[in-house]
Amino acid sequence: MEQSQLEEVKSAALAQVMAAEDESALRDAEVALLGKKGTVSLLSRGISQVPPKERGAFGRAVNDVKKAVVEALTHAREGLREAAIQSELDDRSFDVTLPGIRPTGGTMHPLSQVQERLEETFIAMGYHVLDYLEVEDEFHNFEALNIPADHPARDMHDTFWTKDRLLLRTHTSPGQIRAMRTLEPPFRAVFPGKVFRYEAIDASHEHTFHQLEGLMIDRHVSVAHLNSSMQIMLSQIFGQELTIRLRPGYFPFVEPGFECDVQCMICGGAGCRVCKHSGWVEFLGCGLVHPNVLRSAGLDPDEWQGWAFGLGLSRLVMMQYGIDDIRHIMGGDLRFLRQFA
Ligand code: PHE
Repeated sequence: MEQSQLEEVKSAALAQVMAAEDESALRDAEVALLGKKGTVSLLSRGISQVPPKERGAFGRAVNDVKKAVVEALTHAREGLREAAIQSELDDRSFDVTLPGIRPTGGTMHPLSQVQERLEETFIAMGYHVLDYLEVEDEFHNFEALNIPADHPARDMHDTFWTKDRLLLRTHTSPGQIRAMRTLEPPFRAVFPGKVFRYEAIDASHEHTFHQLEGLMIDRHVSVAHLNSSMQIMLSQIFGQELTIRLRPGYFPFVEPGFECDVQCMICGGAGCRVCKHSGWVEFLGCGLVHPNVLRSAGLDPDEWQGWAFGLGLSRLVMMQYGIDDIRHIMGGDLRFLRQFA
């Protein structure tokens, strides 16, 4: 076999490799060229017809052809692989309008949720929503509310005192004095917030809990107004028509004073575990603003009267969500809080 024939076989082989358009065509070409009976493999057999002196050169030439074909195959394979990757990259449609992955955010505390809903309800009924300080003085928390220093009612308000004789408010009622001293009557306002009592903690007592105080000042205010206002307000809060009742209750800053009960929403008054089989759930303290309190706030009791109520927000949250231990509310346990997402 002549050198020129070898060259022909070689260029035909390379052309065959280059013509392969995909991996399987390439494999076919590989078999056809380098397989047992492949064109290039058969070249070696021709060595017997070559004169002995030229066999060395012929063998090297055949090896060069083989090497060239193997290289061409490798190169073609790499080319195919790269082309496949490139077409994948070109093909991939990227939809910029798909929503991203949301970062996990915090959730509103159940107390904040209930408070926000109450505020919206009261704003819709024409109330101011006011925010007062948690550190108070003795005058606003007690004296102006008709609770002088030696009054037995102070026993009900175990108090955290600061070193300079200020205190952590034991209820939101000091807001009554502050509101009456700043707002022009007639007005109505609510003031939600944290209150503090130096108490032993158990399932129904916390040293820190939440109240919402309400105050309405106008002319000729009577118990009838109080009664209907409480009924409307509680029905608004619960989103259903409720039956309420007022029982005598003692708070030094109201006269007369009442405990306001709501007919049990669970059993409709028939008696169940929630209402401890009484048919009623105690809900808030309320009453007509005591004349002494009006006077301490600079209002003339002959001209202005009012009603006030104090609602336990923590209690409301517990009832609404069926929470049976007040310690969960301020406990900060994320497993508890995540349920209110
Ligand atoms: N301040 C009272 C309490 O903390 C509640 C209350 C407010 C009662 C207003 C009557 C009128 O228990």
